[in-house]
Amino acid sequence: MQFQLTEEHLMIQQAAREFAQNECKPGVIERDETQKFPAEQVKKMGELGFMGMMVDPKYGGGGMDAISYVLAMEEISKVDASCSVVMSVNNSLVCWGLENFGTEEQKQKYLVPLAKGEIIGAFCLSEPEAGSDATSQRTLAVDKGDYYELTGTKNWITNGSSASVYLVMAQTHPELGHKGINCLIVERGMPGFTVGPKENKMGIRGSDTHSLMFDKVKVPKANRIGEDGFGFKFAMKTLGGGRIGIASQALGIASGAYELALAYSKERAAFGKLISQHQAIQFKLADMATRIEAARLLIYRAAWLKSNHQPCEKESAMAKVFASETAMWVTTEAVQIHGGYGYVKEYHVERLMRDAKITQIYEGTSEVQRIVISRAVLA
Ligand code: CAA
Repeated sequence: MQFQLTEEHLMIQQAAREFAQNECKPGVIERDETQKFPAEQVKKMGELGFMGMMVDPKYGGGGMDAISYVLAMEEISKVDASCSVVMSVNNSLVCWGLENFGTEEQKQKYLVPLAKGEIIGAFCLSEPEAGSDATSQRTLAVDKGDYYELTGTKNWITNGSSASVYLVMAQTHPELGHKGINCLIVERGMPGFTVGPKENKMGIRGSDTHSLMFDKVKVPKANRIGEDGFGFKFAMKTLGGGRIGIASQALGIASGAYELALAYSKERAAFGKLISQHQAIQFKLADMATRIEAARLLIYRAAWLKSNHQPCEKESAMAKVFASETAMWVTTEAVQIHGGYGYVKEYHVERLMRDAKITQIYEGTSEVQRIVISRAVLA
């Protein structure tokens, strides 16, 4: 068993830390308040190779392992979870899905610019009436010979207005249930495709979450991923490993809040001594550090399995449910340690607390993760 990061891992971690501190931290409070998409930061993430980290270099990616990706996600999420969700969806869902299941033509056309960060991708599964119950897709992809006619609505789509390429799940054969679903690559600008208004969210307010409307959009058959009816399995396989990205985001949010609370406890005095010298605060810090470390180990194990092409669905779900619940708990305690200062924006922890909540919801709620885990342990 090897518990040490390699030299390369440490370099990537350092590069991500510097990027987060120098490029993401300035303006993060304002972007949250005004819901401004971090366009400059996302562009820079592309230039630094953070948008296609695990993609084979022959398709424009960094050829790195999943641990490197997790390390970068943690550092960026410590500072700005709106930046890191853009990165997570692009890397784990869109690039990974295309690289593993796309045709060579699809990879050349879409994966290469996505991995280089020249364009952004979105993953479109959720619908107004199909969130956790993802097999109940109402969006239709009617087979018209050499193209599909796509009609329906998608909800809560991350990168909704900033993306150029959308992986859209839609039902082609309703009589076959989930076996009739296809995944189609839809381009921004295809006639009949419109983006709804930006959602006004509790957290990750800089990221652009939208509903998408498709009205008889003609999507060429060449844009289908895999065989006819592979769409639901594609979504499940992609999400199965992709959840490691959101787990790392949760880890970063928790670590960021913990580091702020630790530093604050060494500056703030009450009752004649620094609050770090009060056992009430010491025990909170001890529990925060322990839970964060446990989340980190679960995430590293899931990432290691993914990098070694071993099944990691159960481990990813365990990492995500534990890390996201840790993020919610740690950020709440971080606000508590800051007292009144924690409740105002300039101390950052209230934003981290709001950002933490979504990690228990997207890419599968905590309840969905428990379904995945319990099925695996009972199998
Ligand atoms: N790999 C391959 N196939 C899989 C699979 C996997 N990991 N998981 C399930 N399947 C297959 C099953 O084997 C089954 O196929 P067969 O009928 O051929 O055996 C089929 O898929 C249906 O599976 P289930 O019967 O298990 O389906 P279910 O209705 O019971 O649902 C679920 C299972 C786990 C709840 C699933 O619906 C699910 O994961 N829901 C959550 C969806 C989700 O994560 N949404 C997030 C949206 S994406 C997002 O948030 C991105 C973003 O923008 C941030």
